[in-house]
Amino acid sequence: MWSDYPEIAEELKAVEDFIRRNMHSRNRLLSEIAMDLLEAGGKRLRPAFVIISSKFGKYDREKTIPLAGALEILHTATLVHDDIIDRSKIRRGKATVSEKFGADMAVYTGDFLLTKAVLMLSRNISIEKLEYVAKAVKTICEGEVDQYLDACNLDTTVMSYLKRISRKTAVLFGAACALGAMAAECSDNSIRNLARFGFNYGIAFQIKDDINDFLSDTAVSGKPVGSDLMNGIITLPVIYAVNRSSAVRKLVAELFRNKDAAASRDISHITWLIEKHGGMDYSRKILRKYIDKGLKLLGRLPDNEYRDLFSKLITRLGI
Ligand code: IPE
Ligand code: IPE
Ligand code: MG
Ligand code: MG
Ligand code: MG
Repeated sequence: MWSDYPEIAEELKAVEDFIRRNMHSRNRLLSEIAMDLLEAGGKRLRPAFVIISSKFGKYDREKTIPLAGALEILHTATLVHDDIIDRSKIRRGKATVSEKFGADMAVYTGDFLLTKAVLMLSRNISIEKLEYVAKAVKTICEGEVDQYLDACNLDTTVMSYLKRISRKTAVLFGAACALGAMAAECSDNSIRNLARFGFNYGIAFQIKDDINDFLSDTAVSGKPVGSDLMNGIITLPVIYAVNRSSAVRKLVAELFRNKDAAASRDISHITWLIEKHGGMDYSRKILRKYIDKGLKLLGRLPDNEYRDLFSKLITRLGI
C-alpha cells in the first residue's frame, strides 16, 4: 500500500522495528502471538497517519516512531478483541487468535497488547497526551458496547449509526493525526484541522468497511464477508433498505430470529435486496459526504506533498 510513497514506507519500517523491540514477554506464547499478528501485515493506516501528520511540522523520528508504534499496537489489540465478539475466524488472511488459540487466550492477548501500547506511550509522551490516548480507547470501548446493545435493532437510526462508528473507529484516526501533529509542534490550528480530518477519514473508512462487508471478497479483504448481518450488526445499507421496504425489514427480522438456520444463500439474497432497494448507493452517498468534509478540512492546511497524500488516501475510499 505504501510502496508508492518510499518516504512513508521507510518510516513504517522503523515503526515495525520499534514494535519488534518492544513486544517481548517472558511468556513465549504471548510474544509469539503478538509477533505473528505483526507479521501478518495490515495496512498500517494509523501509524502512517501519525507519521504523515508529523510531517506537517518539525518531523522528529525519535518522538514520532514510538507514538506510531503504540497506535498500531493499540489498534491490533482492538482487532483481537473484536474478532472474539464478532466470532471471526479470519483476519489479515490468517486464522484469528480466538480461532487458533481460543477466546481465553485472545482476551489475554488483547490485554497484553493494550498494556504494551500504554508502556510504549508512557516512556515517550507526557501525562496529558497519555490521558488523551486513554480517553480515545475508552471511547472505542463505549462505541463497541453501543453496537453490542443495539444489535438486531431494526429501528437503529442513521444518527446513532454515525455516532457509533465515530466512537469505535473515527476517534482513533483523529487521535493518530492529533498526536503526530503535536509531536511535530504544529500550530494549534493545524493540529485541530488534522485531527478533524482524521476523524472524518475514520467515519468514511468504517462506512466503506461496512459496505465491503456485503460486497467484498475474503480473498481480497482477508476477513469474513456477510458477517455483520449474521451478527445482528445494523449498518448503513441495512438501515436504509429496511426503511424503504417492509419486505426487506421482514426478511432481516426473520434472519435475526433464526440466525442458526441461516445459510450463506440467505445472506446473498438479502444482500441483493438491500442493493436493489438502494442501500449501497445511499451508503456511497453518505461516504462521499465524509470524503468531501475531509477534503475541505485539508484545504485549510498548508499546501504540501503530505496534504496531497492525505487527499489521495481519502479520495481512494470513494472508488
Ligand atoms: C479494521 O481496520 C477495523 C476497522 C476499523 C474496520 P483496518 O482495515 O485498518 O485493519 P488492518 O490493520 O489493515 O488489518
Ligand atoms: C471495527 O469494526 C472494529 C474496531 C473498531 C475494533 P468491524 O468489526 O467492522 O471491523 P472488521 O470488519 O472486523 O475489521
Ligand atoms: Mg466488530
Ligand atoms: Mg469485526
Ligand atoms: Mg467490518
